[in-house]
Amino acid sequence: MHKVELKEVGLDIGLAFARHFYKTDYLHYGYWPEGLTVEPANVFEAQENYADFLLKHIPEGVSSILDVGCGSGKFSEKLLEAGYLVDCVSPSPNLTKHVRERLGDRVEIFECRYEDLKTEKSYDLVLCSESFQYLLLEKAMTMTLQILNNNGHLLICDFFKRDVPGKSPVSGGHKIERFLKYMQTQSFKQITDIDITKETAPSLDIMRDLIREVIAPTWNIVAYYMTSNYPRFSKLFSFVFRKKIAQANRKYLSGGTSGEQFAHFKTYRLFLYQQNS
Ligand SMILES: C[S@@+](CC[C@H](N)C(=O)[O-])C[C@H]1O[C@@H](n2cnc3c(N)ncnc32)[C@H](O)[C@@H]1O
Repeated sequence: MHKVELKEVGLDIGLAFARHFYKTDYLHYGYWPEGLTVEPANVFEAQENYADFLLKHIPEGVSSILDVGCGSGKFSEKLLEAGYLVDCVSPSPNLTKHVRERLGDRVEIFECRYEDLKTEKSYDLVLCSESFQYLLLEKAMTMTLQILNNNGHLLICDFFKRDVPGKSPVSGGHKIERFLKYMQTQSFKQITDIDITKETAPSLDIMRDLIREVIAPTWNIVAYYMTSNYPRFSKLFSFVFRKKIAQANRKYLSGGTSGEQFAHFKTYRLFLYQQNS
């Protein structure tokens, strides 16, 4: 049976939370311009800002788009409404269900990892909206060169690791230097590089508050109930899952998740590349 990865589960849970608490179907960070108060009531607006920012950077002349790692399909829907022809790559069966419900047969959904995609189709633009960090760099780039039309574009909006000592509470992201160096060896020219770390980092303050105010107290009360009523089972559970528990504590419950920490360890960028002719 297919083994489900923890990050896949995390995205599914993330979508349930985003829908319930913030009334949004996006799985990307928000874009917080100066003046937008960082509070849960504004997450919806921040995520719409991000989507508008992304849309604005699709170059003229593009007609067909492959949305790689399309999440719930919300941004693909926006692309369809803007008049683009869209197909989606969605390796997560659970998220794919949402995409299918939302988009029906308006798009073709490739239910695989981007690196394993098999299609005769080609596109004017490959989009990776906060999905680039999940891709294997070399394989993804080989695939992109293969399925882009002549002079096609690659639009990446995602965070990357900065070269600083220490361990980030937020995992993920390719190393920025390695990525930039690698792209210089590829048949692409860089058209745009915009740093939106400052505008996206507040999303982590929202997450920190959610953890502090909802997730940690819930976790603690469940742990209290379990250790009081099922001490032997709890002991065994804590022992068997000690590594996962320590990891969850470090990542989520230590209070280290914040916009400031994020900006220290990561750089959030929008990159637009065009294939060399
Ligand atoms: C953080 S979500 C972003 C969703 C959406 N693009 C958005 O902006 O809301 C990451 C997405 O990448 C997808 N993903 C993860 N690994 C992938 C891979 N190897 N190939 C393609 N997509 C992948 C996940 O299933 C998910 O849809």
